[in-house]
Amino acid sequence: MKFFVDTADVGEIRELAATGLLDGVTTNPSLVAKAKRDFKEIIAEVCEAVPGPVSAEVAATDLDGMLREGRALARIAKNVTVKVPLTWDGLKACRTLTAEGTMVNVTLCFSANQALLAAKAGASFISPFVGRLDDAGQDGMELVREIRAIYDNYPDLTTEILAASIRHVTHVKQAAMIGADVVTAPPAVLRALVHHPLTDKGLELFLADWHKTGQRIV
Ligand code: E4P
Repeated sequence: MKFFVDTADVGEIRELAATGLLDGVTTNPSLVAKAKRDFKEIIAEVCEAVPGPVSAEVAATDLDGMLREGRALARIAKNVTVKVPLTWDGLKACRTLTAEGTMVNVTLCFSANQALLAAKAGASFISPFVGRLDDAGQDGMELVREIRAIYDNYPDLTTEILAASIRHVTHVKQAAMIGADVVTAPPAVLRALVHHPLTDKGLELFLADWHKTGQRIV
């Protein structure tokens, strides 16, 4: 499974990229607003820091506007993935941009039928929003399971399932067990993946015993 980070904070992205375990980045207008910086500058810097797909979302809601903005974003770098909303115009924009050779991430997916449409429109990625469904009292991960089952029924659909709106490490594990292709998570969730109290305790004990030996390895 690929790990993307869901943030527009370039510093955080660079730090996580240094682990060698980061496969891509997703941003959205809310994350850009939080960063309080020029959107296109952020995307250019992120694309340089991370060679994998970097999602940049259009702000227009009509087809012509989405195409104009999508093409402008795609010109920033080869690894820009244009993010469009799951609307009819978004799906049409997806089809056109994909035909032009641009990767497209169809976002704000809340149903399996929407995911089927995005795949038929040629999306590189579909983003089911797990946490927001959970927040609404539904089982967000069930949507990822449904999409996996549907896409597996039709091997000609090559769209990757990008589990989004991830709130905690258990979501990451569940997405991996279901077979999501990608998970995009906030930096804090990605950092938390490594932690286990027994790892810390075990390391402490091993080191205490090692010091008793009085030896050095180098
Ligand atoms: C995905 O690409 C979105 O940016 C993101 O995962 C939304 O998550 P949120 O529900 O935490 O805002």
